[in-house]
Amino acid sequence: MPNMVDLIIKKRDGLSLSPQEMEQFVSAVTKDDIADYQTSAMLMAMFLQGLTPEETVVLTHAMTHSGAVMDLSAIPGKKADKHSTGGVADTTTLILAPLVASCGVPVFKMSGRGLGFSGGTLDKLESIPGFSTALSPEAAIALCKKSGLVVMGQTKDLTPADQKLYALRDVTGTVDSIPLIVSSIMSKKIAAGADTIVLDVKCGSGAFMKDLPSAQSLARQMVQIGRSLGRRVSAVLSSMAQPLGLLIGNALEVKEAIAVLKGETGGDLLEVSLELGSRMLLLTDAVSSVEEGKTLLRRQIETGAGLDQLERLITQQGGDAAVLKDPDRLPNAAASLEVRAAKSGYLCAMDTASIGHTSVLLGAGRVKKTDAIDPAAGIAMAVRLGDFVQEGQLLGTLYARNDGLCAQGAALFASAFTFSEEKQALPPLILDIIEEETK
Ligand code: URA
Repeated sequence: MPNMVDLIIKKRDGLSLSPQEMEQFVSAVTKDDIADYQTSAMLMAMFLQGLTPEETVVLTHAMTHSGAVMDLSAIPGKKADKHSTGGVADTTTLILAPLVASCGVPVFKMSGRGLGFSGGTLDKLESIPGFSTALSPEAAIALCKKSGLVVMGQTKDLTPADQKLYALRDVTGTVDSIPLIVSSIMSKKIAAGADTIVLDVKCGSGAFMKDLPSAQSLARQMVQIGRSLGRRVSAVLSSMAQPLGLLIGNALEVKEAIAVLKGETGGDLLEVSLELGSRMLLLTDAVSSVEEGKTLLRRQIETGAGLDQLERLITQQGGDAAVLKDPDRLPNAAASLEVRAAKSGYLCAMDTASIGHTSVLLGAGRVKKTDAIDPAAGIAMAVRLGDFVQEGQLLGTLYARNDGLCAQGAALFASAFTFSEEKQALPPLILDIIEEETK
């Protein structure tokens, strides 16, 4: 057992840990051979001093192998996965996973639950009556082999080191460190077993990364780490200057995804889904250009192939696929409240985090991991950045289980909008693309 105090002091003083020392630290965390206060001290030292690229690779590798690593070799073909760093009305997985799988590329998706204002794919899918994401790895592999698409929850034995480190980071002010975020996300993605990973790094008022240089640095490091650990990875940097879709909340987001797959609606949500989905096709060599990928994905919407694939996913995981024909079978909220503009002007900024926090307050999200959520709660947005809004015009409708919750959310929601007299330039939706470096 190495002397953890020596390792903490070394990191505290700005020196690099050797690969062996980093592995010893992760092993001690995994086996509970180190006290939480020492792990916390090490995390703070890492947060303050940073990690070298070499240290980050070793940390990610050690975290990946701290528990089970999925072996997807029984599923033929190159497997695709994607990950979003989290946002509001960020429903792309429900759209692109069926679209990409319907092109013949197996999509093996291990997803998380929502926390804070970021939604989670598991909660969204579980708003479909009967849908279960609690699958064993064997069952998930068998389903993906048969249908080409599965969405499962993370198992407890996957990256146990990250589970412990993240829980301590959450309570010690050490979440916002790029190398710690990189190792946390990439260890889980690599342990989940897919050959290719497309990352959606969100940037803006409703994202972890508020500014472009930090988002670019995070994306670059994740792409490099993925590559050095044998995966093909690319990253799309997309804007969270406003909620991506129009519907926020679990059942509401399923409704919007169904409408997109039916070709009834599109907008920014479809654009980002096509950008990410086409890169999943490109990394798995199913197409030779992003444009070819987007054309193919659009065709899967027109022919209904994407919607058919979503139907297979819902049915195989015990859900009520009749929601596709009749989305009103999804949970509906008992109470609603329309929030209207107090003045006229061009909508020039949205505080997306406040809109996300409103949805949490309404019951759509969690403050703590153990909180229950209300699948029907959420918000239907009625405006986009750049719109001219008249005084009294609808900004959005809040949905919750009672009028009191709607009333509580209204002030926070209304405070999220900034108006100007002149129309202002809109931020681009796709801010940057970081591709894997070619050898
Ligand atoms: N999501 C993760 O899984 N880990 C982090 O560190 C931050 C976001």
